Amino acid sequence: MKKIIAANWKNNGDKKFIKNYFEYFSKNLNNTNKNEIIFFPPDLYMDQVDKYKKQSNFRLGGQTLNTAGSDSDGSDLVLTSGTSSEMYIDNGCSYILIGHSEIRQFSNFLIDGPKMDRGLTESETIILALQGSDSLQVIFCVGENEDDKNAGDTHTILSEQLDDLCYLKVKPKKFIVAYEPVWAIGSGKIPTLEDISFIHRFIKSSILEKLSSLKEKDIMVLYGGSVNLKNAKDILCAPHVDGVLIGGASLKVKEFTSICNLKI
Ligand code: PGA
Repeated sequence: MKKIIAANWKNNGDKKFIKNYFEYFSKNLNNTNKNEIIFFPPDLYMDQVDKYKKQSNFRLGGQTLNTAGSDSDGSDLVLTSGTSSEMYIDNGCSYILIGHSEIRQFSNFLIDGPKMDRGLTESETIILALQGSDSLQVIFCVGENEDDKNAGDTHTILSEQLDDLCYLKVKPKKFIVAYEPVWAIGSGKIPTLEDISFIHRFIKSSILEKLSSLKEKDIMVLYGGSVNLKNAKDILCAPHVDGVLIGGASLKVKEFTSICNLKI
């Protein structure tokens, strides 16, 4: 099965960086595996990156969704700032990241915690992503922090986080989950390959247990957290790993291109 190789640029990049990046990427990409390559640039640079889409055959995604936008049903979900699912689609996006730990922790009260003020719960955010006929494909991020891991609570935390994705009335086209242990993000530390496989297997079974109508082929689990050229091949080849979500290393165009060119 083809894998997903996703670049989460976070809040990095400018016009010059993008031009240089794609001049190299377009020339040197040799995606013989036909993997699905996705770039998540900052919203303001979506259009710049979109220009190179045809040349290099990748998809675009948004990093976060936090408002219904101006063409919503007029409810009080329209916030100052943020990007709506319609705007992402209008700008050529087909994917959306939801629940990235940096967002969960940064705006805890907005997304994760009790619904306060005009905050959105994660389930509501997913529903917004799924609105409209040409909906965005959600990549739902889950992961335990270091304290959860040390307390032996990883499975409980993951199962609770997955509830938001599983108990929706409207279902995504495909269930794509990114397992990103919070302690591995940007730290240079990664779980062992056995742990990655075991947890990916757990995520798949947990979703199948919650939604018995699904088949395993409807679920993909990506790994994220300190993926680089040295460890990418082993991670991508580990059982139950359907792709990777890469932060820091995706900003280095030579490294990211080499990861996309790996023969898996
Ligand atoms: P990292 O980030 O690859 O720099 O650890 C991954 C992410 O935050 O998605």
